[in-house]
Amino acid sequence: MKYLLMHKTNPVLRMELDEGTGTIASVGEVFARARVPVGVGTENGAANRVALNGWWAGRAIPASRSGLRDALEVMQVPSPQVLLAKCYGLSLSDQYWARPENSNLRWEDINFFDNAFSEDVGNILFGQIPENDTFSLLSPDNTSDGWLRKKWKIIGGKRCLIKGGSGATRQEPYNEVLASEIMRRLGIAHIPYTLTVIDEYPYSVCEDFITAETELVSAWHIAQTQKKENNISPYSHFQSCCRALGIPDIKESIEKMLTVDYLIVNEDRHYNNFGVIRNADTLEWMGFAPVFDCGTSLWYDKPNAMIRPLAKAPSKPFGSSHDEQIKLIDNLDWLDFSLLKGVEEAFFDILSGSPFIDAARRDALCRGLAKRVAMLRDDKKRRAYETDACEHGG
Ligand SMILES: Nc1ncnc2c1ncn2[C@@H]1O[C@H](COP(=O)(O)OP(=O)(O)O)[C@@H](O)[C@H]1O
Ligand SMILES: [Mg+2]
Repeated sequence: MKYLLMHKTNPVLRMELDEGTGTIASVGEVFARARVPVGVGTENGAANRVALNGWWAGRAIPASRSGLRDALEVMQVPSPQVLLAKCYGLSLSDQYWARPENSNLRWEDINFFDNAFSEDVGNILFGQIPENDTFSLLSPDNTSDGWLRKKWKIIGGKRCLIKGGSGATRQEPYNEVLASEIMRRLGIAHIPYTLTVIDEYPYSVCEDFITAETELVSAWHIAQTQKKENNISPYSHFQSCCRALGIPDIKESIEKMLTVDYLIVNEDRHYNNFGVIRNADTLEWMGFAPVFDCGTSLWYDKPNAMIRPLAKAPSKPFGSSHDEQIKLIDNLDWLDFSLLKGVEEAFFDILSGSPFIDAARRDALCRGLAKRVAMLRDDKKRRAYETDACEHGG
């Protein structure tokens, strides 16, 4: 079926979707080069079909999503990509969508920022079997990323993302709340997360930080805009892509995020877990997105005996361990440890609400966090000592 890839009300390019698989079978005329998705690229005036397919498929729910297989069966949709076309690819994180060429659908009437949406898909993803088969597939849940169970819901007029936890301890929502608290104290731009309980399970809730005028461009897509040379580091490559796109300096924001990741031992800061915000009307880059998705941290999937703050911890995206990644940070002068005083007690209070985390685990986690703060303080002291030694020729 023939579609126009749209960016809000602007036609971007012609494309054909294979109805059986939901993939892009062919690409046609480009109408607005500047609005071709970041990282896709055009050659001789045409968009690269393989890259566009990668970008389009990346809008669908990932195959790793908890509960996806059962949900697809209930909805009788063969794949997440076919589900993607059912909501025209509309999202609550950016402004792209696919308009059937033979339709007169208008962005104003169907975008999820200004229009209400069905919670049917979200509820089905949450394991609720609908009573009849008249459910609507027009949902921003068809385009949500990440493997944790999640759904969008309008709460008090605000679009909110509700996200679960994993395993026996369901720790991720609590970690989100703690990370919000750390960043609140340190004055780091972040998405505040709160807790809710649904059917006895904990979930985090955060508001959509994107509006009908803005959009999130993930670091992943930014990093695709240049070929990475072997002799340049992933961090330099990313900064170079940002510079070439004209993104205002975001080094300080990245380093603050990585510092928090060191403190909470975040294992999953991959390139789709941070990004830059762009004005979707003017295409002007607005700056680093507030930090989100900090749940896969603080030994969330480890048994109590393996809560070891000193152990080598895997990290992403620029270094493979936190000890290595923290060295990439040039400047910790902004970090005021007095603001973190008692943060382990705040964590204790947050965790105390959980029936999934016993007292032994809670105590080990709080001790672990306190140790990470102490380790970072030592790192900052060492830096000051080394700078001093350098300046005085010692
Ligand atoms: N508050 C938000 N506003 C807008 N988009 C969001 C928000 N939180 C997450 N997203 C988008 O949804 C995706 C999935 O959310 P995320 O919190 O990363 O889930 P997961 O923990 O399963 O990876 C993110 O990569 C981002 O694109
Ligand atoms: Mg994520």
